[in-house]
Amino acid sequence: MQQPVRPNLVRIAPSILSADFARLGEEVRAIDAAGADWIHLDIMDGHFVPNISFGPTVVKALRPLTTKPFDVHLMISPVDAYLDAFAEAGADTITVHPEAGPHIHRSLQHIKGLGKRAGVVLNPGTPAKMLDYLLDLVDLVLVMSVNPGFGGQHFIDSQLKKIAAVRRMIDANGRAIDLEVDGGVDADSARRCIEAGADALVAGTSVFRGGPDRYAANIAMLRGG
Ligand code: DX5
Ligand code: ZN
Repeated sequence: MQQPVRPNLVRIAPSILSADFARLGEEVRAIDAAGADWIHLDIMDGHFVPNISFGPTVVKALRPLTTKPFDVHLMISPVDAYLDAFAEAGADTITVHPEAGPHIHRSLQHIKGLGKRAGVVLNPGTPAKMLDYLLDLVDLVLVMSVNPGFGGQHFIDSQLKKIAAVRRMIDANGRAIDLEVDGGVDADSARRCIEAGADALVAGTSVFRGGPDRYAANIAMLRGG
């Protein structure tokens, strides 16, 4: 039987930015049990983005609660001085914005040197072309489908074209590179992202909606089932 080019195994990475922060540990356990593939941790500094979330101390405190990979999205600038702290806190993938430091290539090299998976993230206004000389270095490309800083925003449709362009670039590169999408992902936009070539989806609002009893169904819905 002919195998599909890309098996339909989209990874779901709930963003705990939408969790109940007063019960953060329980929330992480709940999304783990509900079938999350990765745990997405949004780190915001009130400078690179207009919101503040949490730092490496919180990441470290959550680390023993699940064996699922920690997908750490850094929205902090300058970013380089904090890479070691997030690696030590238990990040598995560390994803950085090219705009968050003077030398994105060096930042990605540094993450690899720490023994972590390196991700690069494209803001809605940042072209796919930014990846030309970075793709050989990364394990993950994250396409932002909202402007970073807040959960609960609307999916920006123009990013579907970028997802498709990045899919072509990754396929041409030939290495195993994850293509993740972040922002405004619900059942409808999830389907369109997967069709465009995404194989990992971040979702905050649509996973945490309705409370813990709904998490498994919400995650299954994003997978299209
Ligand atoms: C936005 C963050 C996202 C956000 C997603 O800056 O990077 O991860 O939490 O939340 P929703 O799914 O609500 O758009
Ligand atoms: Zn994020």
